[in-house]
Amino acid sequence: MTKESSLLHVDNLHVTVDDKPILNGLTLTVEAGTVHAIMGPNGSGKSTLSFVIMGHPKYTVTQGRILYKGEDLLALAPEERAQRGIFLAFQYPTAIPGVTIANFLRAALRGVRGKDVPVKEFRETVKTHLKALGIPESFMNRYVNDGFSGGEKKRLEILQMAVLGPSLAVLDETDSGLDIDALKTVAAGISALRNPQRGMLLITHYQRLLNYIKPDVVHVLVGGRIAKTGGPDLALELESKGYQGFKPATEPGDPAELGGRGSPIAAGGGTVRK
Ligand SMILES: Nc1ncnc2c1ncn2[C@@H]1O[C@H](COP(=O)(O)OP(=O)(O)O)[C@@H](O)[C@H]1O
Ligand SMILES: [Mg+2]
Repeated sequence: MTKESSLLHVDNLHVTVDDKPILNGLTLTVEAGTVHAIMGPNGSGKSTLSFVIMGHPKYTVTQGRILYKGEDLLALAPEERAQRGIFLAFQYPTAIPGVTIANFLRAALRGVRGKDVPVKEFRETVKTHLKALGIPESFMNRYVNDGFSGGEKKRLEILQMAVLGPSLAVLDETDSGLDIDALKTVAAGISALRNPQRGMLLITHYQRLLNYIKPDVVHVLVGGRIAKTGGPDLALELESKGYQGFKPATEPGDPAELGGRGSPIAAGGGTVRK
């Protein structure tokens, strides 16, 4: 399969925010049916990549391109990207007081499909997914993320993904802030949504999520570039070594961020060897 016909092909991507360079030549190809994990220290540009894929206006692409199913993704508005099957689960989901989850999901589905969804079909679909995710039906009448616990927010992101059925799902730290039971539920929910047509980008700085969802490919993102790509074992290597040794030659970087105290890996309880 050529890169041009891959599900997602990010090619030499350079991105700035307020004129500050964040991504510096990021290249990545995701085939349909595969799960790619992107791991990296805080501030390495993981969320920036997810926002650029979704089309957040604050992030400026200064060089490079993104092809999605062979199409120039950067030429499309965010809603057109969603309609073509791209879904982003936010690292920090926003509360929408006054809007119930039921109405929100139905509107999202209508937006993506471009037509109304019959109430009965909608109810049945949602019911199935609620059950699978261990979410009570009463959840549907609550306001979106309003007063939600971290675990509830993350489960709602997965519920959205399940209902919308995207071709490409970008999950930004869907494991953060979860206790072990919630982590298992969320991981099982994500795993159940793997299929041969769907690609996933799992952004995480904890290897622990990858104990429950085995990725096909693991990338290490440091200083806005992919410093290393490997198989699932690369995540274990990071767990034991931290991000030292992955410092990109072209970036000044902050040593404190690269596996030192306060780095996600160190904070995650992994043994960081000096
Ligand atoms: N909207 C924004 N405004 C200003 N700076 C930003 C914004 N988004 C990201 N940045 C900066 O870009 C860098 C990368 O951030 P981010 O993509 O959130 O990293 P990660 O998700 O890997 O922790 C950080 O230095 C961050 O401060
Ligand atoms: Mg982030």
